[in-house]
Amino acid sequence: MKEKYLFELGGENIELGKYEAIDLLEYENYKPQILSQEINLLVVEVIKPIEKKIMRRFGMVKRVSNIINYLGNVQIEEIIEKIPDIEINNKSFAIRLLKKNGESESKIAKLLGEKISSKNRIDLNNPDVKIFYYSGENTIISKWDKNMETYYSKCLEHHVKYRPYFSPISIHPRIARSMVNLARCPWKGKIIDPFCGTGGILIEIADIGIDAIGIDIIDKMKEYSLGNLKHYNLSAAVSCGDIETINDYNFNAIVTDPPYGISTTTKGEGVSKLMKRSLDLFSIKLKPKQRLVMAVSKPELIVQHSLKIIKCFEWYIHKSLTRYIMVIEKD
Ligand SMILES: C[S@@+](CC[C@H](N)C(=O)[O-])C[C@H]1O[C@@H](n2cnc3c(N)ncnc32)[C@H](O)[C@@H]1O
Repeated sequence: MKEKYLFELGGENIELGKYEAIDLLEYENYKPQILSQEINLLVVEVIKPIEKKIMRRFGMVKRVSNIINYLGNVQIEEIIEKIPDIEINNKSFAIRLLKKNGESESKIAKLLGEKISSKNRIDLNNPDVKIFYYSGENTIISKWDKNMETYYSKCLEHHVKYRPYFSPISIHPRIARSMVNLARCPWKGKIIDPFCGTGGILIEIADIGIDAIGIDIIDKMKEYSLGNLKHYNLSAAVSCGDIETINDYNFNAIVTDPPYGISTTTKGEGVSKLMKRSLDLFSIKLKPKQRLVMAVSKPELIVQHSLKIIKCFEWYIHKSLTRYIMVIEKD
């Protein structure tokens, strides 16, 4: 049964959030169709309801709600006449406006509230169900419940400042999670991070429920990764070694954040030489269509004839550092 959803994308990188949403839904066979997009709001039609385990994977998608009504720009009174009562069983609810177009919040809450049984309790602080009203190019009414929670807020619990082993250069957990989602790894597969550092990417792989493998050339990084994973009750196979250690493992995808010349050691190897050596190794280990998702600061170093760049997202950190999230596929 076809369903329509309203995706609210995180403001940090709308394009990455959009790609994460659509690519994961495509990979998981939801056959998504984008019906419209207004800034960070995406209306997507899929061929079946989106499962909870998919919702909780999203790192860059702030919220997903199920569309009850989706029309061109019309007045609330006109919609109210057309929509049936909103069924929310015996759950508590709150009504929220996504954009205030000079419309009266209390008028909209009153009109929409009349569509919900008076037996349902209003809870403005912690409702089981939220009804959203959005009026822009389209007028949208959607319904959210706790089973639809994405990981956008929860991801912050994985932030470096809450981990026992700190690294100033560990990638933000929301980006790490979306990188893992872009790897197109089967649920029962394995993802490797061969430059795992303190384990920021390993945490997201393991939290999603996919087997994680980590390698780092510095011995204490193995300890730090394992310590950070344990803090969240997660686990991974982590070993100390050079990038060549990937030859000891089988995996379905690589998600990684290689050294880029700031704060990390390469044990004396130049970043360009290490990148070339890594790409040669990755291209041998990956099978056709398998993915490598990397955060890099010099995208021009990604040159390997059997690795095809599918997407590149620019990620501004500060005036002297921009990182690029590269989605690469073995030809
Ligand atoms: C940018 S950091 C990774 C940060 C990591 N994402 C985190 O959450 O902490 C790159 C890591 O690559 C490791 N490294 C450098 N050269 C390596 C090599 N030849 N083989 C494996 N690891 C290496 C460094 O020790 C460093 O921990």
